[in-house]
Amino acid sequence: MHDILQELGDRREVARKGGGQRRIDAQHGRGKLTARERIDLLLDEGSFEEFDMFVEHRCTDFGMEQNKIPGDGVVTGWGTVNGRVIYVFAKDFTVFGGSLSETHAQKITKIQDMALRNRAPIIGLFDAGGARIQEGVAALGGYGEVFLRNVLTSGVVPQISVIMGPCAGGDVYSPAMTDFIFMVKGTSYMFVTGPDVVKTVTNETVTSEELGGASVHTTKSSIADRAYENDVEALLQMRRLIDFLPSSNTDEVPRLPSFDDAERVEPSLDTLVPGNPNQPYDIKERIIKLADEGDFFEIQENFAPNIVVGFARIEGQTVGVVANQPMVLAGVLDSDASRKGARFVRFCDCFNIPLVTLVDVPGFLPGTAQEYGGLIKHGAKLLFAYAEATVPKITVITRKAYGGAYDVMSSKHIRGDVNYAWPSAEIAVMGPKGATEIIYRSELDDKEKIAERISEYERRFANPFIAAERGYIDEVIMPHSTRKRVSRALNMLRKKSQTNPWKKHDNIPL
Ligand code: HXC
Repeated sequence: MHDILQELGDRREVARKGGGQRRIDAQHGRGKLTARERIDLLLDEGSFEEFDMFVEHRCTDFGMEQNKIPGDGVVTGWGTVNGRVIYVFAKDFTVFGGSLSETHAQKITKIQDMALRNRAPIIGLFDAGGARIQEGVAALGGYGEVFLRNVLTSGVVPQISVIMGPCAGGDVYSPAMTDFIFMVKGTSYMFVTGPDVVKTVTNETVTSEELGGASVHTTKSSIADRAYENDVEALLQMRRLIDFLPSSNTDEVPRLPSFDDAERVEPSLDTLVPGNPNQPYDIKERIIKLADEGDFFEIQENFAPNIVVGFARIEGQTVGVVANQPMVLAGVLDSDASRKGARFVRFCDCFNIPLVTLVDVPGFLPGTAQEYGGLIKHGAKLLFAYAEATVPKITVITRKAYGGAYDVMSSKHIRGDVNYAWPSAEIAVMGPKGATEIIYRSELDDKEKIAERISEYERRFANPFIAAERGYIDEVIMPHSTRKRVSRALNMLRKKSQTNPWKKHDNIPL
């Protein structure tokens, strides 16, 4: 018996060494942790249960039968994050660059199947060069199996990808089909084909960082939702994110203990909106004052900052916050902001996370750049997402709600459950100046007359009361009582039940 135990111990020891000490040292030398070190940081201490540690590839080409490493380049299993079950796989870059073989794929799909069947989130830690070149089509088939499960799992359990090294091919396409992608600054890259292939095909000289670094994907492409300074920060932030998310689409959002009075008033909000409608203010100040303990997990902070989205808690339960940001482009909706908002709204709706929408929007951004870029279709995404969402929807208009953007931002007409406005709200087809110049075009030369018309329009329309008279706004509220009113509305809506007409699926304007 002792011999068998010894053999198990030895085999485990070998498997845990992955591609060997030299490659582990190289991994550390690049400022990266190993797959197992990452899992240990992500999960509660001692909670990791590993599967398939002894799986090896079956490739016999290119002399690969002489080159087998137990585990085959991916560490898989499950554990807990603050007590809740999470499935995890971590690519081991020290073994064939973390590349995916047929058996490596089978290890991942086993975990994907378990996450789906047992209804718990799945986190992939990526540090890998895509399909294992020596395996050819067997690796491609393996990716196909992983991709299929990404799609079938979408909307059932949260799927999170953390990019922690150079990733190419299937190791970027699989993350692209998950709910969130996070990166590590300076050590992680995402591209379909790397700089060498780019040089060969297009004769473009580009570095990995320029082609697919964290800065590119968090600011330009919007592929990544956030980037962190190093592996440790990224993994600790994933633990924080998991605390905001339900385990599946049939679970309720987690309720964490809150020490923040739900009825807390914030007198400073009464002076947040400046008297001058053209003067900006920071909507994040308002979000933080609304949230329990000021805790806000922002998604896509550096992309389309004219809209702010992220998770907060009210009375210990998660809400998705969507807010126009007057500090950037006056909070206008453009194509990027619409896409960003729509994707977030749909995530929340998938996972029963109530939506709190804070509105201060002058409209959609005019101009050829936007129109040629498909603003009509991208703007429609946000409208579509809000309209189809059946989760509790609470809207607070702080200042501008003009034109189509008024309808889009969770208005009563697209099933906003509770729609509040601050006394400073201005709800109209367009701003006073633009409106007056169209209606009174014949008087444009008379500056005095036009100024008079503008102030007349402001008096008559730039307020929340016309909408409130029609019931489009349920109540005009005091800014300082926003948290209390939102919190009460959320409680009132806890058991909301609403369904859309049966369909195979909708046809959102992609
Ligand atoms: C087999 C691979 C590999 C791969 C890397 N390695 N990628 N082995 N298949 N795809 C091995 C290397 O041989 C090396 O082995 C070790 O991993 C580390 O790789 P390096 O190149 O030394 O590291 P680095 O310089 O950091 O570059 C990392 C990299 C680069 C950017 C990922 O290796 C690379 O470009 N790899 C190929 C990427 C690619 O084109 N993959 C196929 C994509 S197609 P040793 O023994 O020296 O340690 C695909 C299809 C899916 O994925 C379908 C999509 C829809």
